Formats: sequence, C-alpha cells, structure tokens
Amino acid sequence: MKGLISIITFLIVGILTAFYIGFGFPDATESTAVDVEIVGLHEKFTLKFSHVVAENTPKGLAAAYFAELVSEKTGGWVEIQVYPNGVLYDAQEEFDALKNGEVQMIAPAFSEVTVRDPKWIVMDLPYLFDSEAKVEQAFEGSVGELLLKSIEREGFKGLAFWDNGFKQLTNNVRPIILPEDVHGLLFRVMPSEALFKTYQTVGAAAVTISFNDVYNALRDGVIDGQENTLSNIYSKGFYQQQQYMTITNHNYLGYVVLIDPEFWRTLPEVYQSSILEAMEEVTAWQRHHARELNKEMLERIAVGSNIEIYEQTEEERAVWRKALKPLYDVYEPIIGKELLDEFAKLQNDY
Ligand code: LMR
Repeated sequence: MKGLISIITFLIVGILTAFYIGFGFPDATESTAVDVEIVGLHEKFTLKFSHVVAENTPKGLAAAYFAELVSEKTGGWVEIQVYPNGVLYDAQEEFDALKNGEVQMIAPAFSEVTVRDPKWIVMDLPYLFDSEAKVEQAFEGSVGELLLKSIEREGFKGLAFWDNGFKQLTNNVRPIILPEDVHGLLFRVMPSEALFKTYQTVGAAAVTISFNDVYNALRDGVIDGQENTLSNIYSKGFYQQQQYMTITNHNYLGYVVLIDPEFWRTLPEVYQSSILEAMEEVTAWQRHHARELNKEMLERIAVGSNIEIYEQTEEERAVWRKALKPLYDVYEPIIGKELLDEFAKLQNDY
C-alpha cells in the first residue's frame, strides 16, 4: 500500500512538472497579472468582441485598449479578439450572434438595444440630456442600474456604458435651423421606434439602413441625410457626401458593453475580476477620450471639406424641444414610471 502511494505521488509530481516545462505559461507583462501558477489555472479563454464602427472612434479605441489590458492582467490567459467595422455582423445580427455563442462580447448603441428591450427607448428621447455631465450621472446612478437590470432579463449581461457623444444632423438639401427645415426630407436612423417618430413628428421621414451601408446610401441619393456623432461622421466619410451639418446635440449616442452570461459563468472568478478591473479602467479612459476625439473630428471636418456647419442656438433648441415634447408622453407607458422618475430626479439635480 505504501509503495502504491509513493508511485501515485511520483506520477502526479511527474505529470505536473512535465506540464509546466513542456507547455510553459505566457509571460505576465504587468505586475497586476493573475499568477496562474498560484491560482492553478491552465486553460486559455478566447472571447470574440464584435462591433460595427471604425477603429479610430471612441468605441473602436476602447475595444482595442480593453483587449490589451485584459491580456496584461491575465498574463495572456484571456484573449479578446476584436472584430471592428461590422466585419462579422451588422448591429442587429450581433445580438443573435451573442445569444448563439458565435461571439462573446458586443457593444451596441442604445438605439439598437431598443429592438431587444423597448425600455431603452428612454435614451432615444430627443433633447433628454443637455450636457455630458448629465449623461455620466445617468450611467453611474439608478438609471444605469435599472437599464442593466432590464437588459439582463432579455438574456444579456451588461458590463459597462461606453460613450461616443451627441448626435449631429447632416443633409444634402438645405441648412437645418428650425423644425420646418426638415419637412419632406428622408433621414437614415438606427432601428429605434422613437427615432422614426422623432422625424415624423417634425414632418420628415426616416428609414433604417445598416451603419456600413450609410455612406453609399448618401452618395447615391437614397436618403437626404443622417444623424450621428462627429467621430462616426468623420471616420466613415459621411461628411464628404453631405452639404450641410447642424450641431444639434439632439440625442446622445452611447453604448452598452454586453457579454454572453453563459460564457461569463464559465470564466474562473479570478479572470472575471481581471475583466471587470480592465473594463473599469477603459471606461474611465474612453469617456474623456471620446470627448476629445469628437472635438478633433469637428475640426478635421471643418478644415477638410466644404460642408456648411451651423451651430444651433439656445432659442432654436427650445423650439425643437417644444415640437418634440409629445414623444415623451407617447413612450411613457413603454419606458415605465420607475425609469422616468429617475430621469426626473436627475433633471432636478441640476
Ligand atoms: C450607427 O449610426 O449605426 C452608429 O452610430 C453605430 C455605432 O455603433 O456607433
């Protein structure tokens, strides 16, 4: 019996040594990296992260930085493979790919989320936020919590809110100053019911087109205009196909970073912590960076094109707000009192 125990001990030690020497471990490049030897983890995890925008945008840069940080923090044992520009899926296909386990992470715009969870329509109400500080407060407070809880019921685990910035309006027909200026025009929007209604309310029409087809639709005159952030307008070249841009800041374009909850449960706790830590760092970094990037893109558009840029005044903003106010009542039953009350509290805080 004693002999048998010695043989078993010898075999276990031998196998472990061979595993260590034969396969080795990736180098931890940072002191914060998980020590897989100590925690006894020997399985590499790979996550596909799909998104639809260019790499030089707030989301594109955040995804790349996140991949780098996770690799550092896990000593290479968790790899995030980023697929930008919609090379794998368009924005709506991404949700299904996440559910089917074809990708593990996505970061859709709020307007895309409304298709899966109509409560998110709240984020598409026009002129909901009048400053980035208010947006940040919403993300970090009860509004953020309620939205994440709500999307979790639809089978998605939300990890963070990422920023892009306020949306601006471009078109090829005329300068847009007051609501009557959009009469009869056709705009491309993301597939959110509230966005269609926004344009209808002021006598225009809207159509959904995948983000990566918008450039061609503008070029071919299929649509008159579109709404987007400056970094998206610049990085996808929309400004090259448009004559007029109004700085309206009428909606906020933000993202929710979603992970497949089943995949999340398979991850050892220590890697979950590393991912959350990386997410927190990237989220803080990208918030500041998104603002800077959008500013820079405005300058580039102004200098590098003939597009006529008009900045909406406070008085004009008030006219738009009044014209679009009925939408708040239309969507109240869908959004729910709880969420709307939180927004009301937010408004009062200022
Ligand atoms: C869009 O217009 O579809 C984009 O704003 C999408 C995105 O993810 O930024």
